[in-house]
Amino acid sequence: MSRRQLRGLRALVTGASGGIGKAIALELARQGVQCLLLARNGDRLAEVRAETRELGTQASVVVGDVTNAADRNTALEFAQREFGGLDLLINNAGISASGDFATGSSEVLRQIFEVNFFGAVELTREALPLLRQGRSPMIVNIGSILGHRGIPFTGDYCASKFALTGWSQSLRAELKSEGIEVLLVSPGTTESNLASQLIEQRVKLPWAGMKGVTAERVARATVRAIERGKHEIVPNWSGWWMLFAHRLAPGVVDTVMARLARRTRS
Ligand SMILES: NC(=O)c1ccc[n+]([C@@H]2O[C@H](COP(=O)([O-])OP(=O)(O)OC[C@H]3O[C@@H](n4cnc5c(N)ncnc54)[C@H](OP(=O)(O)O)[C@@H]3O)[C@@H](O)[C@H]2O)c1
Repeated sequence: MSRRQLRGLRALVTGASGGIGKAIALELARQGVQCLLLARNGDRLAEVRAETRELGTQASVVVGDVTNAADRNTALEFAQREFGGLDLLINNAGISASGDFATGSSEVLRQIFEVNFFGAVELTREALPLLRQGRSPMIVNIGSILGHRGIPFTGDYCASKFALTGWSQSLRAELKSEGIEVLLVSPGTTESNLASQLIEQRVKLPWAGMKGVTAERVARATVRAIERGKHEIVPNWSGWWMLFAHRLAPGVVDTVMARLARRTRS
């Protein structure tokens, strides 16, 4: 039985100009959710808005950067003014990089944390007053399977997603008494622009060409989980197997990862 009626809810989706965020926005629009789309690329956001119109619930757009406090504020003010409030906050915007730790830079590490972690955390803090007044409110954090198991040459990204995992679980307990739910979505490899738009590429990852699941599949699983009030989901089998192997035999996974790292270097 569904616990949450989606039709008529109001959502803010970050990173909605492509990939998983776009697919979630379209799936929500299909279910009658009024969406506000936030990302930096205005042209792509306009295309997504046009697609939502075809689905019957036209989204609105705010062009902005989740790391910018003024842009976050503009989005929340828009939600309050035009939607009359906010029920779902989807923290999806994310970036990544590849390279070993030793020759990496603190600039790239901090840039990744600014978007993947601090952007989500600060937007959530600022959105809480609206969510408290919302209808069956929920915060949805798009983490990663790499927020549960680290792999070589993406340490900065893994660390940002581990931070998101821990914070999501902490927040869930704190907000339960206020009736605000927190869903953590941990996808495995998913077809999107993430791998082709790395902010820095110092190593060619051996699994870069691996075919993942579609962003639409992750979006459908996410929206179903929102409907059912789930706390944590791993929407693809490859991710689920990696977690299972890690919990069952972490030492074996460590050995496999070390071999992979050696082979990637040579
Ligand atoms: N693809 C995978 O295999 C995979 C696996 C696990 C988890 N994830 C997570 O899924 C989420 C979505 O990624 P994706 O795979 O769909 O990648 P994507 O296609 O590259 O989409 C990333 C989105 O984030 C937006 N974005 C990036 N920096 C931003 C910023 N500073 N402010 C606002 N928006 C920003 C981008 O839009 P603009 O450039 O227009 O700003 C884009 O819409 C990320 O959190 C990612 O870590 C992805």
